[in-house]
Formats: sequence, C-alpha cells, structure tokens
Amino acid sequence: MTGSPVSLALIAAVADNGVIGDGGCMPWRLSSDLRRFKALTMGRPIVMGRRTFDSIGKPLAGRTNIVVTRNSGFRAEGVIVAADLTEALDAARRAARNESAAEVFVVGGGEIYRQAMASADRLHITHVHARPAGDVTFPPIDAAVWERVSAEDIPAGDKDSAPTTYAVYRRRGVPSR
Ligand SMILES: NC(=O)c1ccc[n+]([C@@H]2O[C@H](COP(=O)([O-])OP(=O)(O)OC[C@H]3O[C@@H](n4cnc5c(N)ncnc54)[C@H](OP(=O)(O)O)[C@@H]3O)[C@@H](O)[C@H]2O)c1
Repeated sequence: MTGSPVSLALIAAVADNGVIGDGGCMPWRLSSDLRRFKALTMGRPIVMGRRTFDSIGKPLAGRTNIVVTRNSGFRAEGVIVAADLTEALDAARRAARNESAAEVFVVGGGEIYRQAMASADRLHITHVHARPAGDVTFPPIDAAVWERVSAEDIPAGDKDSAPTTYAVYRRRGVPSR
C-alpha cells in the first residue's frame, strides 16, 4: 500500500555521560519526561528491543507495540513480534498507515537505537543533566548528520531526579514533514 511517507523517530532520555540504562532499568526518576513520552507516542506504533520490553513488563496502552527478538519462540500478549529490525520497521509502518499515523517511534534500548539511528529522520532526546553509572548508552549524535531544531530547558520538578533539556534533532538535508 502506498501513501504519504511514514517518518521514523527515535525517542530517548540520555544522561550527559551517554548513559540510558543500568541493570535493566533507567537510572533516574523523571515524571515530567514520562508524561511527554506518553503524549508524543500515543496513537503511534512503537518498536523496542526484547530487553526493553522485559523492563516495561507489558505492552504500552494505546500504541501498537512491536518487539524485536532473535528468539523465534518469543510470545507476549498484545505485542507484534519481529525477527529483526527491518521486519519490525515494516510492521510499524504498516500499522501507522492503518492507523493514519504519520510517524513511528523506536523507543529503545541501546542495541536497537544503534541499529535504527541510520534510518531515523528525527531524534527526540531528553538530555538528563546527571552522570549516573550505567551499562547501556545512546550512540553519539553526530552534529554533521543531525541538526538540533528545538531545545527546551526543564528544571527538575518534585518527581524528577534531575533537570533536563528536551531537544529535537532532524537529519540534515531531509525536508521537514
Ligand atoms: N533512557 C531511555 O530512554 C531508555 C529507553 C529504552 C530502554 N532503556 C534502557 O535500555 C536498557 C535495555 O537496552 P539493551 O541495549 O540492553 O537492550 P534492547 O535494545 O532493549 O534489546 C536488545 C534485544 O533486542 C533483540 N535484538 C536486538 N537486535 C536485534 C536484531 N537485529 N534482530 C533481532 N533481535 C534483536 C535481542 O533480543 P533477544 O535477546 O530476545 O534475542 C536483544 O537481546 C535497559 O536498561 C532499559 O531500561 C532506556
């Protein structure tokens, strides 16, 4: 089926030292960021690695959830299982067209961000101003490839463990949609 192109965005919270996870969890508490994540991704297909799915423990409501795994026996209620990233992105784009969504999101974790970065059109990055210990990082954001098109500084609220800057990056040389 053809139609208007579905763009691909990565969405991540990334500490100033590049850390995004530690021991299967995120090493911070950021209530305001979770609200933004929900608002941005609601109604749009989301793609995640099996370890990120395990850390969430259930599909995220209101979104088509696609989980990438090499384990052909993997099953989980309420998710589409994909054998590799290409299959996952194809399924996400199909779902987006069926749901009239203009964008699909890759929501982590580190392994999947690394593979998806080359095909992404846009990055939604919450820069977390902290330097936590961690075992998973986000790939470097190369300024020659990515243009920062917006940035908003957000002080830490009552339920946030650090101040953040929410920034959107667009791949250079690609017209905005
Ligand atoms: N800060 C953030 O915004 C953010 C967002 C999401 C996650 N995280 C954190 O990131 C961490 C998890 O990241 P991670 O790098 O360990 O794991 P991950 O990227 O979530 O998942 C990795 C798994 O995905 C599957 N996979 C990866 N590439 C594949 C491919 N090409 N084909 C088929 N399957 C593939 C494999 O599953 P199988 O082993 O089942 O084959 C692999 O073990 C956690 O700490 C989580 O809290 C942080």
